[in-house]
Amino acid sequence: MKRLMNNIVFIGFMGAGKSTLAKMLAKEIKTIVVDTDKIIENMEGKKIKKIFESSGEEYFRELEKKVALWLEKSVQNTVISTGGGFIHAENLNKIGKVIYLKSTYDGIIKRLKTHPQTKKKFAKRPLLHDAKKAKELFKKRESLYEEKADFVIDIEKFNNEKEIIKEIMKIF
Ligand code: S3P
Repeated sequence: MKRLMNNIVFIGFMGAGKSTLAKMLAKEIKTIVVDTDKIIENMEGKKIKKIFESSGEEYFRELEKKVALWLEKSVQNTVISTGGGFIHAENLNKIGKVIYLKSTYDGIIKRLKTHPQTKKKFAKRPLLHDAKKAKELFKKRESLYEEKADFVIDIEKFNNEKEIIKEIMKIF
């Protein structure tokens, strides 16, 4: 069994598959997985969509920063999936080794549109509701993801999630 000496942090745009792959990787290396969006939902007792509606995006970003500080201080040997904007947390690289799940914008949209629960996938993500704005956000974020990444995995090169996990396992 491979052992994690540090946290693994998945970053990437909405819909890149961070949560799914984080769960699969944690299972593979027999460790714990946490999801920053889920932590925030638990803190607030509300879904992300509701937090955006009732308190706004800035408030949500503050919560992300709080979670980032907690992860750095208190979490080890864990696989962490993050929200697409978590890269704005200044201490991101202090939390663990950062893996960027890279895809083109069209690849992301295709992935979401062919998902059996496509409606739900879009509905829960307020920043995907306006396609023009979402694409602009993607363009703005692309270079940031690259900058923050210790490892880049081009997810469009692979046929399925199992293949991606195999590739990630080569990192250890
Ligand atoms: C966001 C991504 C979402 C969630 C929130 C904002 C973003 O997470 O944190 O809706 O700013 O990119 P996913 O990347 O899991 O969709």
